Amino acid sequence: MNEKKQRIAVCVSGGGTNLQAIIDAVASGKITNTEISLVVSNKKEAYALERAKKAGIPEKCINPKDFPDGDAFGKAMTELFEEYKIDLIVLAGYLVIIPEILVKNYRNRIINIHPSLIPAHCGMGYYGLKVHESVLNTGNKVTGATVHFVDEQADHGPILLQKAVEVKEGDTPEILQKRVMEEAEWQLLPEAVNLIGQGRVKIEGQIAHIIS
Ligand code: GRF
Repeated sequence: MNEKKQRIAVCVSGGGTNLQAIIDAVASGKITNTEISLVVSNKKEAYALERAKKAGIPEKCINPKDFPDGDAFGKAMTELFEEYKIDLIVLAGYLVIIPEILVKNYRNRIINIHPSLIPAHCGMGYYGLKVHESVLNTGNKVTGATVHFVDEQADHGPILLQKAVEVKEGDTPEILQKRVMEEAEWQLLPEAVNLIGQGRVKIEGQIAHIIS
């Protein structure tokens, strides 16, 4: 039976290495039953948009600052995702607060990759290198990455996948970020997209279950 392909939109703000991991996983067949139908950035200079262009994926730049408020921005994003018949929104290094109206319209259909083991080192102000600085300042011996569903609070929705990464003596935030990306983020996000595309994820309250 030819299952309907899952259409995903990937939201980016920076280099797009997590987007590239998804692009490569679709190309290699690691991700089945999924099409990257759209890439959206809030920054026109984001290299992630170049990656989309190179992969022949439609890309758009939508700046939240061009809207009077979060509601108007959320409505515009909802309309764009509906126009592209998006099933799943993937936040991959997307440094924009998702408006409540978008969370409601896409309840349990928005996932985010965060570079720590939530609920540690997350929430407002914890992004990019700041996350790894916090891990090093705390003296953690283990960190990692988390893929979670997005709800109305930052880095708070049902956790889908996590992977631990060792913190090593002499790590700088940059070295640690690279290790977390290579050993965790770039594995987990494609795996999460694949699981959801195969209909193997079920959310009950605050818990996401993976059906084998
Ligand atoms: C990185 O800090 C990564 O840990 C987080 O988003 C930032 C940019 O990632 N997920 P990317 O290279 O743009 O995917």
